[in-house]
Amino acid sequence: MIIPVQLADRSYDIHIGAGMLAAAGSIAASHTRSRIVPVVTDATVWPLHGAALLAALASAGLQGDPIVLPAGEATKSLQQLGGLLDRLLAAGITRADCIVAFGGGVIGDLAGFAAAILKRGTAFVQIPTTLLAMVDSSVGGKTAINMAAGKNLIGAFHQPAAVIADPALLATLPQRQLRAGYAEIVKYGLIGDAKFFEWCDAGAAAVLALDAAAVAHAIAVSCRAKAAIVAADERETGDIRALLNLGHTFGHALEAETGFGDRLLHGEAVAIGMAQAFRFSAAQAICTAADADRVTRHLLATGLPAWPAAASIATDAAPRLAAHMAHDKKKAGATLPFILARGIGSAFVDKSVAMKRITEFLALDLRVR
Ligand SMILES: NC(=O)c1ccc[n+]([C@@H]2O[C@H](COP(=O)([O-])OP(=O)(O)OC[C@H]3O[C@@H](n4cnc5c(N)ncnc54)[C@H](O)[C@@H]3O)[C@@H](O)[C@H]2O)c1
Ligand SMILES: [Zn+2]
Repeated sequence: MIIPVQLADRSYDIHIGAGMLAAAGSIAASHTRSRIVPVVTDATVWPLHGAALLAALASAGLQGDPIVLPAGEATKSLQQLGGLLDRLLAAGITRADCIVAFGGGVIGDLAGFAAAILKRGTAFVQIPTTLLAMVDSSVGGKTAINMAAGKNLIGAFHQPAAVIADPALLATLPQRQLRAGYAEIVKYGLIGDAKFFEWCDAGAAAVLALDAAAVAHAIAVSCRAKAAIVAADERETGDIRALLNLGHTFGHALEAETGFGDRLLHGEAVAIGMAQAFRFSAAQAICTAADADRVTRHLLATGLPAWPAAASIATDAAPRLAAHMAHDKKKAGATLPFILARGIGSAFVDKSVAMKRITEFLALDLRVR
């Protein structure tokens, strides 16, 4: 299945399907004039799936040149970026080449940013290997690295030349990572597609059990939703792309509070954050308590956390979480923008939510143990 991302001269296709990795050679071949294809990957993914990618490239007469980086968020650093650029330049890369990013969101963000600045812009193909990367980070052209001052602070918009999402690669992904990626899938239902939320409510177990049809459907619906949002608001200059941040202001604060580590994965923080966005909306009588309950129950039923207590956040953390939110938005003051919801499938941007209300809400929400 092919889902187009329509962005004028930056348009590209997302190729989705089990076994699609085999087409990586022919897809990459249409974006490069060299025989050698640099493949940026990580030390967990490469031993598991590198041989299959090399075979796919070879079938189109291409030779993969793997650049294997350490797995994990710490790889999205200025230091790793410098090393990667030096290796690509030493290999004689030109703007006629095409870089392949083969890994999760960490590899996609780092390799994508390297491609964005290498010779002022080189083509790259995203081959995501985590569920999160297949449904979110590989599509849309946001690339970035982390700095001491915070996550994703240095980056560029640089759209890939193609995305290849092969659900068969997920067979080796740990369940916890799979569930964290699922949080970003159900997000699309919660933002603007109540029917898809219904499907998720019935089908989440099949997705997490890697039922081939269910995973492909979930990836396709997610990518279609993200592609439409990105096409309408590529650089997040309007409110539309901001909707993708549902649950993220609450979630980032939880990630900051837990030190951005293994204690709380990004998708887990987003799950709690989405539940909080709905509970806050219900507390403000913007949405019904029944919808907020349903979101909370759905997330818990899939094995995701829905309350801050699940991440052992202290009951007195409300002021600290509010401070993280202000820092995240680089804005101190009485109000901050939040994605709220009028109901399941009806998220909207509220540009000025009173922080006093958020802090009061958090104080109560943190007490649910
Ligand atoms: N650019 C965007 O629009 C965007 C959107 C969302 C998230 N992100 C970024 O994505 C990153 C998170 O991505 P992620 O969750 O994919 O993390 P990740 O890339 O760190 O992957 C998670 C872990 O799974 C391992 N792994 C990957 N594929 C595997 C496989 N098939 N089998 C076994 N193990 C595998 C990795 O080695 C890693 O240890 C964050 O840095 C986040 O900022 C970017
Ligand atoms: Zn996210």
